[in-house]
Amino acid sequence: MNETDPALWPPVRLSGAPSRYPYYGELSRRAAGWLGVDPEMVLPTAGASEGLLAAALAFVCPGRTRALTSTPTFSLIPGYLRMAGAGISGVPVRGDLTHHRKGMEARLALGVDIVVVASPDNPTGMALPAGLLREWARRFPGTLFVFDEAYGELGGQTMVPAASEMDNVLVLRSFSKAWGLAGLRLGLAVGNPGLLQALRRVRTPYAAGAAAVQAGLQRLQSADRLPGVVAAIHHRRRFLARALRGLELEVPDGCRANFLPVRVGPAAGRIATALRRRGILVRHLPHALPGWLRITAGREEETARLAEAMEEVLSKPDEEE
Ligand SMILES: Cc1ncc(COP(=O)(O)O)c(C=O)c1O
Repeated sequence: MNETDPALWPPVRLSGAPSRYPYYGELSRRAAGWLGVDPEMVLPTAGASEGLLAAALAFVCPGRTRALTSTPTFSLIPGYLRMAGAGISGVPVRGDLTHHRKGMEARLALGVDIVVVASPDNPTGMALPAGLLREWARRFPGTLFVFDEAYGELGGQTMVPAASEMDNVLVLRSFSKAWGLAGLRLGLAVGNPGLLQALRRVRTPYAAGAAAVQAGLQRLQSADRLPGVVAAIHHRRRFLARALRGLELEVPDGCRANFLPVRVGPAAGRIATALRRRGILVRHLPHALPGWLRITAGREEETARLAEAMEEVLSKPDEEE
C-alpha cells in the first residue's frame, strides 16, 4: 500500500468522548481557508474513495451515462462507475505511461457525461497539466469533470480554483497520502454547493468519523509542515528511481506520487513473490500494468534493502514462485 511514513508527521492526539456525531463545520472552514474556497464548497468524506463512490452514485444514470477514464487508473474509478451503471471508455496510456491527451480529447469531443481523472494517477504516477484540464472543463461544459487529487499535494498543482469558477468541476482530496492519515479515512470533496448536495443525498451520513475530523484539524493546524513532508517524499522517490535505474530497470520520467512504476518484464509476478518472501511488499498489477511493478518510495535504508533484494531476485530467474 502506498501510504506515507508516520515518522514524517507528529502523532495525532484524540480527545473527548466519541458519543456525539462528528461536527464538520470547523474542518470545512479550516480546509476551505487552506484551499482558498468558500466553506460551502467543502464536504468532508471518508477518504477520496468515498468521494469517488458518491460521485458515481450521484451522477451516473444506469444504462445512459457515458463515462471516460484514462486506463490504467485507480481501480475504484472504473469499478464504482461500472457498479453505478455507466458505460465506460478507457483511453489507454502511452508506452511511457503518460496520459494519452489526444485520445482523451477526441473521446471528450464525441460526447461524455462524466470524466474521472486522477492526477497524479495511480499506478502510473503521471499528472496532466492543470492548464489542459481547465481548458477541457471550459470546452466541454456539458461534461462533469471529477478530478481525483489524492496525490494533489505531491503533484504540486490543483483544480480547486477551477471548481470555484466552473459548475462542472468536482475535486476530491485525500488526507491519506501526503497528510499521512490513511488509517483514519478522511478526504474532502470540493465543488459548487449543488454538486455537494447531490453527493450528500447518496452517502452514508457521517462516514468521516469524529476521530478523522479531529486528526484532520490537527494536520491543517500544522500545515506549515506539509512542504517539508512533500519534499521528503519527492526526495525518497528520486532516491528510489536512482536505485532502480542503477539496476538497469526502466523507470519513467515525470512520476509525481509517493511510488514509482518500474518495468521488470514478464517475470513481474515471480519477482513480486520473491521480494515478498524477503519481507518486501511491492504491487504487482497483472491486468492494469502487465510487466510492471509499483513500488512505494520508503526511507533510504528501506530502498537500499529493496535494491539489494531486487538485484538478488533478478540474478536468480529460476527461483520458484
Ligand atoms: C488515485 C487514488 N485516488 C484515491 C485513492 C483513495 O484514497 P483514500 O485513502 O483517500 O480513500 C487512492 C488510494 O490509493 C488513489 O491512489
